[in-house]
This record gives sequence, C-alpha cells and structure tokens, in this order.
Amino acid sequence: MRIALIGSDGQLGTDIYSYFKSCGEDVYGLTIKDIEVCSKKSCSNAVLEIKPELVINTAAFNQVDRCEEEINRAFEVNAAGVKNVAQACLLCGAAMMHFSTDYVFGGYAQSVPFIEEDRPAPVSAYGVSKLAGEYVVGYMLKKYYLVRVSGLYGHAKSMDKGYNFVELMLDMASEGKEIKVVSDQTLTPTSSSDVAKKLHELIGTGRYGLYHMTNTGSCTWYEFAREIFKICGLEPKLEPVDSISFGSAAKRPYYSVLDNKNLRSSGIEEMRHWKQALKDYIKERDELACAQ
Ligand SMILES: NC(=O)c1ccc[n+]([C@@H]2O[C@H](COP(=O)([O-])OP(=O)(O)OC[C@H]3O[C@@H](n4cnc5c(N)ncnc54)[C@H](OP(=O)(O)O)[C@@H]3O)[C@@H](O)[C@H]2O)c1
Repeated sequence: MRIALIGSDGQLGTDIYSYFKSCGEDVYGLTIKDIEVCSKKSCSNAVLEIKPELVINTAAFNQVDRCEEEINRAFEVNAAGVKNVAQACLLCGAAMMHFSTDYVFGGYAQSVPFIEEDRPAPVSAYGVSKLAGEYVVGYMLKKYYLVRVSGLYGHAKSMDKGYNFVELMLDMASEGKEIKVVSDQTLTPTSSSDVAKKLHELIGTGRYGLYHMTNTGSCTWYEFAREIFKICGLEPKLEPVDSISFGSAAKRPYYSVLDNKNLRSSGIEEMRHWKQALKDYIKERDELACAQ
C-alpha cells in the first residue's frame, strides 16, 4: 500500500516506518522539514505529491504540562492541524489514520478499563485538544482509523532526546537522585513497536473506526518505575507521591486504562502484557547501546 507517514522521525512514527517497510509497504516518511500540519498548503502539497492511499498522522503537540501554558499551540497542532491533514486526505481520496490518547478520559470515578463507547471527559488542555482532533476526523472523513494509545515508549525519542518515561527514570537513577513518582494514576504503559505491529494488522482488516490500542495489564506510574528498576537490577531511592503533592501543571486522569474491545471484535489478538513488552524494550536498548 502507498502510505504517507507524518512524523516519521517521532517515537511512534519511527517504529511504524521501520515495521511497515519490513512488511513491504510503500511508505513515504515525512518529517517537520517536509510538512507543517499547521499549514493547510503544506499539507496538501506534501500529500498530493505522494498520492497515497493512506495518510498516517503521528504529529502532535503532546507535552501535557506545556499544553496548559500554550493552549493555542495545542489546538493549532492537535485540532486545526488534524483538519488540514484530513482535508489533504479528501483531496486525494486517501484514508487517514490518526492517534489520540487515554487522556481524553477524566478517570476520576473509574476503576474498570474504558471501552471505545465510554464518554470522554478530559481534564487537561492536552486532552481537550486531542478530543477536538478526534471530532474533526469523525466529522470530516468516512475512511479513517482513529487509534487511542497510552503511555508510549520507544527507542527513537529515547536515543535522540531522552523523552520517554523509561529513559527519564534511568537517567535519574544514574544521577543518584531521589526519585519521586506519582502512585495514584493508573494506566497501561505501551510499547510503540508493539503498536506499530498491531496497526499493520488493523489496516489489513480494512475496518475503519475508533480503536483502543495498548499493551494489557495496568499499573501506576510508581509501579511502572519500580518494574523498570527491577528489570535493570537497580535500587535507586524511589518514593511514591500523590498527584497533588507532585504538583504538575496539568491535571491527569487517576485512571485511564483502555480496554481494546474494538480490536478484539475485529478478530485481532490481544496485545501482550506491558511487563513483557518493557523487558524486551530494555533488552533491545542494551543491545543498541552495545552496538554504538
Ligand atoms: N507519547 C505518549 O506517551 C502518547 C500517549 C498517548 C497518545 N499519544 C499520541 O500518539 C501520537 C504519537 O506520539 P509520539 O510519542 O510518537 O510523539 P512524538 O515522538 O512527539 O512524535 C511526533 C512527531 O510529529 C512531529 N511534529 C510535531 N509537530 C508537528 C507539526 N506541527 N507539523 C509536522 N510534524 C510535527 C514531530 O517532529 P519534531 O520532533 O521535529 O517536532 C515528531 O516527528 C500522538 O498523536 C500523541 O498525541 C502519545
């Protein structure tokens, strides 16, 4: 399939690019040098040049705390940018795959995983802007895959920019700092490489719609950190804290575990447990570091 991939050097984009290529797909990677989603013209030019059957949009402004301060930018990228990409898809008759987040849910009174039919109620500027992006896709297009993911980690950003939670924890441990991690927010950490594989399966079904796509199981951020250190054989000073004491700029859901119900209904096998995926990520990370 001929595919235009926006954000091909991001965390998820890198894994999609390499996995889809390995499956023989005709993927054209677009970075910020090739496309600016906030510009309608840039989107139509870049997409029309490729004439893809599918446009995959991983571009987002996803620094949750910064979105509180830069709310205009959040909406520009996460909602108006999505409209520009959707318009480019309409121009060339392409389907669109777009990503959203578990943070579209509030999760203040929830203790069982959210299914796709549950009503979103975001509690942050990031969550509201991503939900607006979801509505744009659903309003403008008929041929779309809208995929909500959660707590992503992948090798691309970790090696280049040190952004993801696993790398942040390991950096802090190596500096010998006391590490405080919130213990009252429950989610499912998810491997971006596992997501890339499932996305390929999903496209194979041709069944458009809204999907939750995460590894299985759940934990708090504190338990996630504890597991990282356990796998790496490290024993840093790790302290659980509650969200209010931690004092982030943005509110986050206390519970945002997603049930991958629509994937199962499409005959796609459940994703593996987050602990297994994390173990493999850390193993590959060590192998990549040795190879450098
Ligand atoms: N990371 C998570 O934990 C998480 C959780 C839930 C949902 N999601 C969603 O999953 C998707 C992928 O996330 P990710 O972690 O892979 O993000 P990422 O690593 O930040 O990658 C985003 C990519 O989009 C590019 N980009 C940003 N702004 C752009 C713009 N205005 N025009 C064109 N390209 C732009 C970035 O380029 P530069 O790096 O050069 O700016 C980067 O290549 C996003 O929709 C995100 O909201 C992520």
